[in-house]
Amino acid sequence: MILITGSAGYIGSHCVLALLEKGYEVVGFDNLSVGHIETVEKLKLYGKDKFKFIQGDLLIENDIQKIFSNYKIDAVIHFAAFSLVGESCLNPSKYYRNNVVGTLNLLDKMVENNVLKIVFSSTAATYGEAQYVPIDELHPKKPCNPYGKSKLMIEEIMDDFDKAYNLKSVRLRYFNVAGADEKTRVGEWHTTETHLIPNVLKSALNENKTFNLFGYDYDTKDGTCVRDYINVEDLIEAHILALEYLNKFETTNFFNLGTNEGNSVKEVFDLCEKITGKKINLNIEKRREGDPATLIAKNKKAKEVLGWEPRKTLYDSIKSAWEYEKSRK
Ligand code: UFG
Repeated sequence: MILITGSAGYIGSHCVLALLEKGYEVVGFDNLSVGHIETVEKLKLYGKDKFKFIQGDLLIENDIQKIFSNYKIDAVIHFAAFSLVGESCLNPSKYYRNNVVGTLNLLDKMVENNVLKIVFSSTAATYGEAQYVPIDELHPKKPCNPYGKSKLMIEEIMDDFDKAYNLKSVRLRYFNVAGADEKTRVGEWHTTETHLIPNVLKSALNENKTFNLFGYDYDTKDGTCVRDYINVEDLIEAHILALEYLNKFETTNFFNLGTNEGNSVKEVFDLCEKITGKKINLNIEKRREGDPATLIAKNKKAKEVLGWEPRKTLYDSIKSAWEYEKSRK
């Protein structure tokens, strides 16, 4: 049985569905502070007796022990975290406690219960400002916000746990995750939305809503920030390959997950107008604090070592996100 923390969230819920489709049995764990109970209900509907759910918090050790006492866990895929860069600057304590302390509690319980394999949701934010692009895994790691720092700390803790307790981890450093389940069962749903694609699409759905574009004066092809958008289903495929890698090689490793290609915010906006067939109200705002100009992944290592191949385009991601957004209206 595979334990998925953060199973009620955007990426975790896609992972549950993919594992279930591959025949795995899954236990989901989530405190529902960001994730939604409606998502859990959907997963239960599709998973039937192959999916169990425990509502609990990684800051409460008894909640974690409950999982290991009730189920025979073979490996963990750990998504549960707070992940908003801006919020992490305003409230670093929340991020260090939830992300670092919560993960430490999880790792301790794993070791105690002799579960020694974990796939971890890390981030491009561990690299900080890009010194060169595309960013490979050897790029210096100088995170410039508490969110990125919290994820880097966890990666370092995992290295120490490998040396001391033989706990093996695969850390996946995501670039910008986009899109939704093709069948619109789950998708990107944040109570307060800060991400680009859902925000543009919300403005497309509601003509009274204006999309605010942060910064038109970056040193990029059209003056707006460039990001590497990786489709959520492709991203999850890499998690399953990482799980298989851990089972086969029993060794720690880390990989970037991106497409090797960058798109500007304006390009994303234009593509959203094309896909939705709507004219979207656009307002140019000043730069958002902490946004680097360009982030593009080099994904060669994941391709070579995991045999991963991202298949979906930005068009596919926006299209599925749009279908999901409409289904929630
Ligand atoms: N943007 C807008 N308007 C919006 C939302 C976003 O113009 O309403 C712009 C941002 O300024 C940025 C780009 O769109 O230039 C992408 O912004 P997102 O918020 O969608 O994504 P980020 O690149 O800021 O963040 C993502 C992940 C983080 C991760 C980070 C790594 O969401 O979890 O990449 O750098 F930490």
